[in-house]
Amino acid sequence: MKYRIVEQTRPGGLLAQVYREVLAPAFPPEEIESESSVAETLEAGLGSLLVAVDESGKPAGAAFGRWWEASRVQMLVNLAVGPGTRGHGLGGRLLQDAVDVWRERYDPCLIVAEIESPDARMVHEAYGDPRRRLGFYESAGARVLDLPYFQPGIGGVSRRVNGMLLLAIHADPSFTPDRPDRLSGKPLRSFMTDYLLAAEGQAPSDWDAKALFKAIDREGGVPMGRWGTSA
Ligand SMILES: CC(C)(COP(=O)(O)OP(=O)(O)OC[C@H]1O[C@@H](n2cnc3c(N)ncnc32)[C@H](O)[C@@H]1OP(=O)(O)O)[C@@H](O)C(=O)NCCC(=O)NCCS
Repeated sequence: MKYRIVEQTRPGGLLAQVYREVLAPAFPPEEIESESSVAETLEAGLGSLLVAVDESGKPAGAAFGRWWEASRVQMLVNLAVGPGTRGHGLGGRLLQDAVDVWRERYDPCLIVAEIESPDARMVHEAYGDPRRRLGFYESAGARVLDLPYFQPGIGGVSRRVNGMLLLAIHADPSFTPDRPDRLSGKPLRSFMTDYLLAAEGQAPSDWDAKALFKAIDREGGVPMGRWGTSA
């Protein structure tokens, strides 16, 4: 099967079909924002949806990214390939295309993604295997940030997801000023502040958030590397 990758930066188009058939089935409900929230991000001019369509025009995979202008951080919010198509290179192609498009558009930038830690149990076959997923990103050059990371709660603090990792998929050298394996805390702090506020509706004051920001602010930057070796 041949696929072509198309990008849309406005709501409408393939969004409803992609959301319902590709993205929503691939994630536990607490790890994916609503279709209307994705549409709002696109409406605001901050979203990018790359869709892999087959020869009949049916979506087989998608990558959705959101731009955080103040910190110059692009977040790969969701990447998914339909279960029947996994393991044939389409996810890798989508990731590479997304990184190329976003680097070109937002340079200089940092591209991040959040994934379940490989320590997490496999919740459901449809959501994929956390270990293999980490392998997928590491093969694409992503590095794990040494942070006590949690996914901000979509809709409130009580919906946070623990046991997540934050990955740097791409980091412009201006974000690693001291050493290539140390990410500057400044853009990360700005990004996490905006992200937590947008997701949870209020600035956090709890210990988990304090620990996260303390780790972000540590001297010399945030270590990043392969999982289990970045500390
Ligand atoms: C992760 C994912 C996008 C990869 O897409 P893909 O087209 O299968 O990937 P490719 O064929 O380009 O690369 C193969 C690699 O993908 C990963 N992969 C393949 N099937 C997978 C699955 N069921 N679960 C997790 N990772 C998988 C493996 O690392 C695999 O390499 P391996 O065969 O050496 O183990 C896809 O498996 C998926 O949609 N998973 C569910 C949703 C998800 O986890 N998204 C990522 C978080 S944003």
